[in-house]
Amino acid sequence: MQTVRALTAFFLLAATWATAQTAVPDAPATVIVPLPEATPAAPASPAPAVPADSPPMEVRRALAVDTPVALPPPTKMVYTHCQVPAPVIAFTFDDGPHPDLTPKLLDILKERGLKATFFMVGRNVAAYPQIVRRMVAEGHEVANHSWSHPLLTSLGDTSLDSQIRRTHEAIIKACGVTPTLYRPPYGQTRLSQRKKIKEAFGYTSILWDVDPLDWQSPRTAKKVHDRVLAQTKSGSIILCHDIHATTIEAMPGLFDELKARGYQFATVSQLMELEAMTAATAAATPEKEENLPTIPVTEQPPVPLPASAPGTEATPVSPAPQQAP
Ligand code: NI
Repeated sequence: MQTVRALTAFFLLAATWATAQTAVPDAPATVIVPLPEATPAAPASPAPAVPADSPPMEVRRALAVDTPVALPPPTKMVYTHCQVPAPVIAFTFDDGPHPDLTPKLLDILKERGLKATFFMVGRNVAAYPQIVRRMVAEGHEVANHSWSHPLLTSLGDTSLDSQIRRTHEAIIKACGVTPTLYRPPYGQTRLSQRKKIKEAFGYTSILWDVDPLDWQSPRTAKKVHDRVLAQTKSGSIILCHDIHATTIEAMPGLFDELKARGYQFATVSQLMELEAMTAATAAATPEKEENLPTIPVTEQPPVPLPASAPGTEATPVSPAPQQAP
């Protein structure tokens, strides 16, 4: 009974605080979007078993997308991981959608009832909108990873805006969902650019704390599996690329092993909400360049994309060996 009272108090506190925070002056109007809709479980598939060491009730409740709790917009502009009180993690897949590999990954996720976040390259979104619609229908989060994967720090304001805007619009056109998160290619942006993107799109920048370097040759599924297992902890944001066959090959075993270790899978927005609920009284900290967390390793160094004639940019990125991730 004490537990019930404590939980009730926690949620009342969180809801009250959330209401009070909705008037934050620089809160973007577009940042609050409905959580991805839950997919009704197929009648034939059994309900996923709750492991003995599963996260506590408040975490399961926080992840229940059919009972969303009003929360404030994110107070940070950049996340590499989230502070959460239980083993909840977020898998992210970049650079797709890929016409063959992404549907395979969606099958693997669906079989296990898991959710992930897809940071997509806009020209691939435009080429494969049906895959983007499937992501949303199956409860995944869709997010922006620029139009053609340039190094954003090399761009002027107009090009930067175009890279983000075209992808933003392509995602909305493909699936009707307005994204709220982006990940800069190679994890690189300037503070001034993050501010511009926040102002124009309301986006929060999502980096990572787990990087299996799954793009690096020679690629093997075992390497991806072992590196993710070794680095993952509660609140981790895991960087993978759904354009590499070896990455997709690693996922079934990796998902099963992480589930067996008690991890629960969330979208990035759900993980951020969980952090907000957990640290409901944390004050917003003004971001400074020197306060940015150090990324242990970065993505593959930028490789110039093949030149494409105007009007042909919807051509999908082919996952050639040296293609930028
Ligand atoms: Ni990328």
